[in-house]
Amino acid sequence: MCGIFGMIGSGAVDKTLSALKRLEYRGYDSAGIAVKNGGCINIYKQAGMVGQLRKSVPADIVGESVIGHTRWATHGEVSQANAHPFISQHKQFAVVHNGIIENHLSLKYRLQSCGAEFTSQTDSEVVAHLLEANFSGDTLAAVTSTAKQLEGSFAVVVTTAHNGNLYAIKRKSPLVVGVSGNEVYFCSDIRCLSQYAVKVAQMPDDTVAVSAPSGSVAFYDFDGNPVSVKFFTVDAAEDFADFDGDYMLKEILEIPEKIRQAKKGYFADGGLNLTAKVVHRIKRIYLIGCGTAYNSGLEAAALAREMLNIDVLPVIASEFIYDRYPVDNTTLAFLISQSGETADTIRAAERVAETGGFTYAVTNTSTSTLRYACNKFKNICADGEFAVASTKAYNCQLITLTLLLADIAYLKGSIDENVHNKIIDSVDSLSAAIESTLADSYQIARLADEIKDSSAVFFLGRTRDYPTAAEGSLKLKEISYIHSEAYPAGELKHGTLALMEKGVTVVAIATDSALIDKMSSSIAEVVTRGARVICVSPYGFSNATVVKIPVVNRFMFGALSVVPLQLLAYYVAKRLNRNVDKPRNLAKSVTVE
Ligand code: M6R
Repeated sequence: MCGIFGMIGSGAVDKTLSALKRLEYRGYDSAGIAVKNGGCINIYKQAGMVGQLRKSVPADIVGESVIGHTRWATHGEVSQANAHPFISQHKQFAVVHNGIIENHLSLKYRLQSCGAEFTSQTDSEVVAHLLEANFSGDTLAAVTSTAKQLEGSFAVVVTTAHNGNLYAIKRKSPLVVGVSGNEVYFCSDIRCLSQYAVKVAQMPDDTVAVSAPSGSVAFYDFDGNPVSVKFFTVDAAEDFADFDGDYMLKEILEIPEKIRQAKKGYFADGGLNLTAKVVHRIKRIYLIGCGTAYNSGLEAAALAREMLNIDVLPVIASEFIYDRYPVDNTTLAFLISQSGETADTIRAAERVAETGGFTYAVTNTSTSTLRYACNKFKNICADGEFAVASTKAYNCQLITLTLLLADIAYLKGSIDENVHNKIIDSVDSLSAAIESTLADSYQIARLADEIKDSSAVFFLGRTRDYPTAAEGSLKLKEISYIHSEAYPAGELKHGTLALMEKGVTVVAIATDSALIDKMSSSIAEVVTRGARVICVSPYGFSNATVVKIPVVNRFMFGALSVVPLQLLAYYVAKRLNRNVDKPRNLAKSVTVE
């Protein structure tokens, strides 16, 4: 997983560095560019972020074409040697790559036996050497035969000393082409192109592209046969917003408005958009995603248990791909992904489709790979989310999934019109409840001071509050680096209680009035052993510091009670001086399995 960019045209060095900065959400442990001028390719690369790379690139350097890369390490440590671009031994080809070359070792051994000298531990370097080995006068032929020899997932942009063209290869990793006059762009994310390109096209899988300094772009399959690809006009609304503060806080504060937007967008796009015939056929629903998107599926499944009489199972995408979850034509799978580019989730969609199920993408990007891999698509309308820690997308995923499941339940007759309408109406009061919770954020900021030095933080919840605990825990650990786990509260006494002692913080979520006594007992068990407890609840608890939230419709509690936890993670990370928007070892979009 990484961000790649390439372009032919004026100001190529500066534009590439700016684009890499915007692509940093995909990886930010090292960055580099290859600048092509005449028959010469110069490489500049660094461990660290794009800002550091910019300092090492001579201000007066000019390139006819430039390729660039921002890295999230998969093969090989974070180092200058492992940073992209990679150049072939005789400096004829330089490449940037996003994805994983699964057969890189066998290719490497073969190339080494023919004299190629490798300088990195990466899987990607093999592509540069392979291009050189395959070259016998025809660059396109070298690119297509290289593409044919690669296994795995790859978006590659190639510059060559032989001519002024840029070449690209694409299979299973995102790659977009943009054009404007005689300028051509390649990029991992369409949103980076909206300020440069007039027309854009998603490169189809198993194609190569050849772009020339005249501004022409031609596409071929791996056998060299021409492929026709449709370009469309760039939507400026897809652009990144420039912002100086912390995106995470900005995105949390946007939640009430984005929830209103998600509901509006849901109905403007026709609601469920499945016929009654299809709905009646459904006997099993999977909610599939990774990380936060999985947690939203976990919460939606808890809500579905109150609405539907069929199996609704949340599954982690990377588990779904390799396990034996049954799928047939009575199966509906919601594939949940903010980016719509998460490799595991896309593979899971393919597995459902291959085995006869119906696939429904729930994403935040209308042009994503996942959207096109699924039968149906619903946009959660959260708008661009740039902090690596997902916040507003979670709340909008929850609202969208709740509306989808309520529509299915209503069409199946398992909830009546009254309950159905109440669910829809309660979205508006949810936004107001979140606004009042955000207004109390000073209390959370104070609590952050108290718990920032905790040796560990455990999040507890029962039934529909457990997914909220899981999401709160994920948020805290990913940006503060404090060890954190989530448990169904009743499970605590079956082992984890051993870890409760002074210095440990427990965050309990208790939104179900019927379970207050049970939660009170769980809190007593940990307090007795020295842990301090914070409880997010509309109700009072004498043995915990309570963060009060308003009472909302029971189907809306998940999207509300997570907000104090998102804020808590943010403030704890700030107190610890973490980079909240770009935490260590993570990236926004995980495009490798
Ligand atoms: O783009 P996706 O929703 O598919 O991303 C899935 C996860 O990688 C993502 O939610 C991740 O867990 C976040 N960093 C959590 O804040």
